[in-house]
Amino acid sequence: MNAIPERRADVNFYDVEAIRRDFPILSRTVHGKPLVFLDSAASAQKPQAVIDAVTSCYAEEYANIHRGVYFLSQLATEKFEGARKKVQRFLNAGEVREIVFTRSATEAINLVAASYGRKFLKRGDEVLLSEIEHHSNIVPWQMLRDEIGIELKVAPVDERGALRMDRFRALLTERTKLVAVTQMSNALGTVLPVVEMARLAHEAGARVLIDGCQAVPHMPVDVRAIDADFYVFSGHKLYGPSGIGVLYGKAELLEAMPPYQGGGDMIVSVSFEKSDYAPIPHKFEAGTPHIAGAIGLGAAIDYVTAIGLHRISNHEHALTTYATERLMGIDGVTLVGTAPGKGSILSFTVEGVHPHDVGTILDHHGIAVRAGHHCAQPVMDRFQVPATVRASLGMYNTEGEVDALAAALRKVREIFA
Ligand code: ALA
Repeated sequence: MNAIPERRADVNFYDVEAIRRDFPILSRTVHGKPLVFLDSAASAQKPQAVIDAVTSCYAEEYANIHRGVYFLSQLATEKFEGARKKVQRFLNAGEVREIVFTRSATEAINLVAASYGRKFLKRGDEVLLSEIEHHSNIVPWQMLRDEIGIELKVAPVDERGALRMDRFRALLTERTKLVAVTQMSNALGTVLPVVEMARLAHEAGARVLIDGCQAVPHMPVDVRAIDADFYVFSGHKLYGPSGIGVLYGKAELLEAMPPYQGGGDMIVSVSFEKSDYAPIPHKFEAGTPHIAGAIGLGAAIDYVTAIGLHRISNHEHALTTYATERLMGIDGVTLVGTAPGKGSILSFTVEGVHPHDVGTILDHHGIAVRAGHHCAQPVMDRFQVPATVRASLGMYNTEGEVDALAAALRKVREIFA
């Protein structure tokens, strides 16, 4: 089993080369070039500790959970429920039963929309979003709107991609019943002031859902400090497996909500006349869950926690500043989204070159970036671009990789000159 890096008291200590050695894929080549992986916002690479946890789950400790009286089933249950406990501590949730495992953050938002939304929202109620939401925090609310007649309001961002707090305040009225916003934009890197937004929302009598997918890999998160009613994130962006997501919900809300899906493992008893549902969180976990995924997510949480989210955040902020300077120094490159305090995402255009062509040329240099609308088409509309190139930095990226990106972008410019 790969060792988790030793804890160091010095908050500035960050051994990026040691961290890179923990991620086997980072030593591979692509098109004969060393891999430069700058697409962690789409999905992050996995440390050996996560790979080992998933492998040993299947190789040594696998059986279905919550069902068996036998040793392996009880062991797997213990590991699965242990992972839930790790998520609780990671988010600083008050109770472990406030953590629901889902298939993804997308499913977690759909769960809230379908369950909380259908039960507690009614025609004319407003759900307030921001202009920089991922499609996963737009479409479920549109579906609910079409079904029950709620209204959607959108708080805009300024030309740097920062939220217009004046507009957000103005849009919060007694009709606002839910504020559903991202903590960090996947397309721009903007970090929203969610503590302040949640406070204002609660003052207005609204509930708050935070999409934490891009936040949790980059900064310490405390759902009680935010006072989030719901908080969602996905495992795969946090260096864990794909196919596992998390919904945190305040216990009294989850208890009051009807199940999202029916099936095995979410009931206490079933007859053809009626069924009694299991207590939370199991009421929301119908069917066999992604057992190895949850256990792998627990290992990912152990991994990033041992290194320290503050240290990861410091490293990524320094690297983002460096990358911003390097990219701004390239003629024809324009950054889209430069909000103060933004996270480690650099979205940009290259004059005269379609983002997909930029992405393809970078790939030939071994550099992986995302090119497109990043599942955030309203952001592209706001900045009047069809698409951008997005370099997203993770805990394992280095200045050398940023230099490789800058050098390849200069080549792109030469090719299209
Ligand atoms: N939401 C992921 C991204 O931003 C897929 O790329």
